Amino acid sequence: MRITVVGDTLLDEDVEGTIERLCPDAPVPVVDVSAHRFRAGGAGLVAAMLHHDGHEVELVTALGDDEAARRIRERLPGVSIIACDSAAPTPVKQRVRTADQAVCRIDEGCGPPPVPRVDDLALAAVSRAEAIVVSDYGRRLTEHPELRAALQRRALRVPLVWDPHPRGTEPVSAARLVTPNIDEAAAAAGTGRGAAHASEAAERLRERYGCAAVLVTLGELGALLHEGERAPVEITTDPVEAADPCGAGDRLISAAAAALGRGAGLEEAAREAVASARAYLAAGGVASLPEPETIEAPAGAPTDDPIALARSVHERGGTVVAAGGCFDLLHAGHVRTLAAARDMGDCLVVCLNSDDSVRRLKGPERPIIREHDRVEMLLALNCVDAVLVFDEDGPERALERLRPHVWVKGGDYTVEALPETPLLRSWGGTTVTVPYHLGRSTTRLATALARVG
Ligand SMILES: Nc1ncnc2c1ncn2[C@@H]1O[C@H](COP(=O)(O)OP(=O)(O)OP(=O)(O)O)[C@@H](O)[C@H]1O
Ligand SMILES: [Mg+2]
Repeated sequence: MRITVVGDTLLDEDVEGTIERLCPDAPVPVVDVSAHRFRAGGAGLVAAMLHHDGHEVELVTALGDDEAARRIRERLPGVSIIACDSAAPTPVKQRVRTADQAVCRIDEGCGPPPVPRVDDLALAAVSRAEAIVVSDYGRRLTEHPELRAALQRRALRVPLVWDPHPRGTEPVSAARLVTPNIDEAAAAAGTGRGAAHASEAAERLRERYGCAAVLVTLGELGALLHEGERAPVEITTDPVEAADPCGAGDRLISAAAAALGRGAGLEEAAREAVASARAYLAAGGVASLPEPETIEAPAGAPTDDPIALARSVHERGGTVVAAGGCFDLLHAGHVRTLAAARDMGDCLVVCLNSDDSVRRLKGPERPIIREHDRVEMLLALNCVDAVLVFDEDGPERALERLRPHVWVKGGDYTVEALPETPLLRSWGGTTVTVPYHLGRSTTRLATALARVG
């Protein structure tokens, strides 16, 4: 399922160590550090969970131009990140921990930011989502009026789960499910605190937001679902003793969105979400999530993963070149175009039409060569570093994921007439056309082959 996560991403860092002595000049423990672990937190953690569950995830977020943002990108391979300029530092939350206790947390860059700038790519990712999760951590992305309008529009058609924050903005009214924890719900609704007030708080909030339902989460007690006219439903759970409760709420909202996106009803989705959060904690919480494959490849090292390759070249300040086409019956004209494309930058990714895409464009007889073989032949060329297969008619989505600096198109097109040109311009890229080489074409080859029989 294509799920768009919208929200604030921060860098979580665990500094792990042991304590065996006190500091001689102050009565504080000395931590001997054994490891630093970095994770994408907030909306980034939701995106990582959904990607791990096998969904196609786009993360619309705001990042600064800094080392923390670079680390966040590195920790989210496979997630398509649409980062708006936050014009503020990327927040970092550092937890200092020993095996059996948290020692302290150090927050940096968490001061109030301006409302981030939101670009068209972010709005487009909202408008093509099959389910949406908003993970608000109070950093003002959800205040942006155009983004809110896009969320409201899309939420009329697909489920939207909104996890609110005390410093955040109110959910859009088309939200299917809003998921405050009990403290957040009580504070927002102005009720007494504690689970006894969950139902009253949920009802008030549902009326105020105009959303379909509110799910108040109650930690080890589970959650309470309030859906308009229906009587509130208590969803209990088996408490687990969680060594690290961080991320339970994120697991809950990602599971709820996936269930609703699949077509489950609210109660079914809420039950599944509660069970999923419990299972996550029982398995050890964030520590149980798989470490992302490291993409810190040495400069210039080839990788077959087109997105990771483009990202690492971007990060090193290199030029990413992409070229597109069907490449059915590879011929010398193709090879010359691709070699010229590779010379324009530091890596070349070929955006290749899938078999279905070729069939739709060129008719039922095509492709002659199956996708798998077309990929293999392209990768065998020295000038091709990676191949990204796309299934749509046009390469726009593949390009959004790669964000190349240069897009090379072979054939008799003028740059201005290509639909990709404005897209490339939106991130400062350029489109280049390379004329076809006379006498070489797949159609001619195919006709000649037919004569040979
Ligand atoms: N100790 C526990 N045992 C079983 N399930 C739990 C426990 N703690 C949390 N959960 C599950 O996780 C869900 C979310 O937890 P909680 O109410 O603490 O949310 P939260 O405060 O938003 O969490 P987070 O700190 O991750 O944002 C709960 O509704 C429940 O289903
Ligand atoms: Mg929460």
